[in-house]
Amino acid sequence: MVKKEKFEFIDLKYKPSARNDLVCLFRIIPNRISIKKAANTVALESSTGTWTEVAGGKKDYVKKLRAKVFSIHGNLIKVAYASELFELDNVPNILSSIAGNIFGMKAVKSIRLEDVSFPNKILKVFKGPKYGIKGVRKMMKIKKRPLIGTIIKPKIGLKTKDHAESAYESWIGGCDIVKDDENLASQKFNKFEERIARTLEKAHQAEEETGEKKAYLVNVTAETKEMMKRAQLAEDLGSKYIMVDILTAGWAAVQTLREANFKMAIHAHRAMHAAFDRMPQHGISMMVIADFARLIGVDQIHVGTGIGKLEGDIDDIEEINEDISLQKVKATKQRLTQNWGKIKPVMPVSSGGLHPGHIPFLIKHLGKDLIVQMGGGIHGNKLGTMLGAIAARQAIDAVMKKQSLKQYAKTHEELRLTLKQWR
Ligand code: 3PG
Ligand code: 3PG
Ligand code: MG
Repeated sequence: MVKKEKFEFIDLKYKPSARNDLVCLFRIIPNRISIKKAANTVALESSTGTWTEVAGGKKDYVKKLRAKVFSIHGNLIKVAYASELFELDNVPNILSSIAGNIFGMKAVKSIRLEDVSFPNKILKVFKGPKYGIKGVRKMMKIKKRPLIGTIIKPKIGLKTKDHAESAYESWIGGCDIVKDDENLASQKFNKFEERIARTLEKAHQAEEETGEKKAYLVNVTAETKEMMKRAQLAEDLGSKYIMVDILTAGWAAVQTLREANFKMAIHAHRAMHAAFDRMPQHGISMMVIADFARLIGVDQIHVGTGIGKLEGDIDDIEEINEDISLQKVKATKQRLTQNWGKIKPVMPVSSGGLHPGHIPFLIKHLGKDLIVQMGGGIHGNKLGTMLGAIAARQAIDAVMKKQSLKQYAKTHEELRLTLKQWR
């Protein structure tokens, strides 16, 4: 008789504790073994086990720490990790367990971390967003409408003076927010120190001229100590925001930035996310990236567009959107339940390949608590940056007034010409 294999990291009767267990939802394709065996291997490698038994693993107090597969449905498995497995306030440490070696294991052909749900014990030790949706609205004095932003284009190459001038025109035209692009840091042609000083000057000028709040999101992404110096300079010069490329900078850097507790809001750019989340069977979903960003405490984050130049399905984006903006998130097929408790909601940002004609679609699917950003969709407008920004703002106004863009364009020339340029 063949001896039945024992899967010591599977306990289908186990009920995870909302107070103590971090839960992960994985999609796995086993590599010529049963799903049970693959699930067991994932749980052991990401907690106390390894490829062979070791003496210490038999000690009772170690056994207690084993991760537990408590649900297997098709290719989706749920694993519970007791908080004791982690240094609670250390995101890199948590990820090294739940999203570490397992991605390279031979036991699976592919594995994707679809979602994670944090227990109270972990939620308690993080700050979460300082401002979040409400705080950002208050700071920008914009009650109901979506915010509108632009990214200076060309994304890289402009000299500081032209960068600042382009920002000014965008604000005067009606943008609330102007941000650096993800790959602008402190290159020779556009040094950080001069750029922030000159661009903030233009922001203040635009505020005086329009009577509206205008924000500049300067990209502080750099080696950590340098990043902190740049953030401090932004704060000293009275900036409302800083922006950071959360994935290329790394989670430790994002924690450092948030822990410094600057007065400024943090805008999270997700450049490199698609290396993790583009493959439907393998990697780490955008939902998980957004969850950790919310936990640490960014105030706004790019979630995708569902239209335009970037890959990404609008249904998935709607789920991510809820995940970062609701207090209580319901489980779906690819999402876990989460009660965020005191952790504030994050303002979602749609950006990438957008133009004013996309605005009704975005608001329909993602709601009004949204920042719509357009780079090419403003600076590529044949009317120029300022009129391009006017057209973008008109598109927002049309939706707020419950009119179709076509209708509104009849009395708004900039919008009319823009809709002719991009259909
Ligand atoms: C995204 O992933 O959301 C984009 O690449 C958009 O980036 P942007 O802020 O530079 O527009
Ligand atoms: C990007 O890097 O994707 C952008 O900054 C967005 O720019 P776009 O609006 O020109 O696509
Ligand atoms: Mg960009």
